[in-house]
Amino acid sequence: MIIRIEKPSDSEAITEVTKAAFEDHSFSQQTEHFIIRDLRTAGALTISLVAEVDGRIIGHLAFSPVTISDGTTNWHALGPVSVLPDYQGRRIGTAMINHGLALLKSMEGEGCVIVGLPTYFRRFGFKNHPLLLHEEVPQEVFSAKSFVRRMPFGKVEFHQAFKQLSLIEKDAITDVIIDYAIAGIKLDLANPAVESLISKKILTQMPDGKFVMRPSALAEYDSYFAKVSQFVVAEMSRVHKNPLLAAVSH
Ligand SMILES: CC(C)(COP(=O)(O)OP(=O)(O)OC[C@H]1O[C@@H](n2cnc3c(N)ncnc32)[C@H](O)[C@@H]1OP(=O)(O)O)[C@@H](O)C(=O)NCCC(=O)NCCS
Repeated sequence: MIIRIEKPSDSEAITEVTKAAFEDHSFSQQTEHFIIRDLRTAGALTISLVAEVDGRIIGHLAFSPVTISDGTTNWHALGPVSVLPDYQGRRIGTAMINHGLALLKSMEGEGCVIVGLPTYFRRFGFKNHPLLLHEEVPQEVFSAKSFVRRMPFGKVEFHQAFKQLSLIEKDAITDVIIDYAIAGIKLDLANPAVESLISKKILTQMPDGKFVMRPSALAEYDSYFAKVSQFVVAEMSRVHKNPLLAAVSH
């Protein structure tokens, strides 16, 4: 097995490995391959390593920069990390993580955070630090490893690419547009995907009780989908002249 930095021609294989590794995981929204793609597009893949056996990519590991509210710099997030199911349990994940951490340190990285099972990441020296927080995940699955003496404190923010909408949320957005535009159907507030869109402020309630979609908030998660949604709404409005479309606006 060899571990090396990704090449441009590896991106499809990395997508496939990532999708396969996370496929059956209930904690995953199966958006990890989009995170890697968006990190790459944004030039935010600090390190992207692949594990290769007989010319086939069977593992992948990404690092990307994070910001910390105390102003600490040069910290990174480890992950997503994936090994093809048939190759798991053969120390490939361990080898990639050790390799990646050493590389990060040699690049003057000062530390690393991870969202993942503490039972697995403890072996690499990651520990939970009560003063270092990630607001969107339970504290017990958030751990850190400092390469220097100092441990930062405060809120850690991952790269924007980690804010992906799940396919279920995207379906809910499509339903909202179509239901409002065509049938004037009210939002199903009991739908957890709708609830999640409200918590993300993509859907917000107006003083008159109506919910409106905010493409500007949607764009923070998915600029392409926001443009498509805006276009569809504008087109339907033009074609159907449906007054209910007023409910779906900026
Ligand atoms: C997590 C993952 C990358 C580990 O790679 P791997 O090559 O299978 O792991 P290794 O063979 O290096 O490590 C083996 C050890 O880790 C343990 N381990 C593997 N996955 C684990 C998990 N999800 N939770 C706890 N322990 C785990 C094994 O039991 C084994 O323990 P041992 O050393 O005490 O025998 C791989 O299992 C995977 O792709 N999982 C799906 C995606 C995922 O969960 N990624 C992590 C979150 S970003």
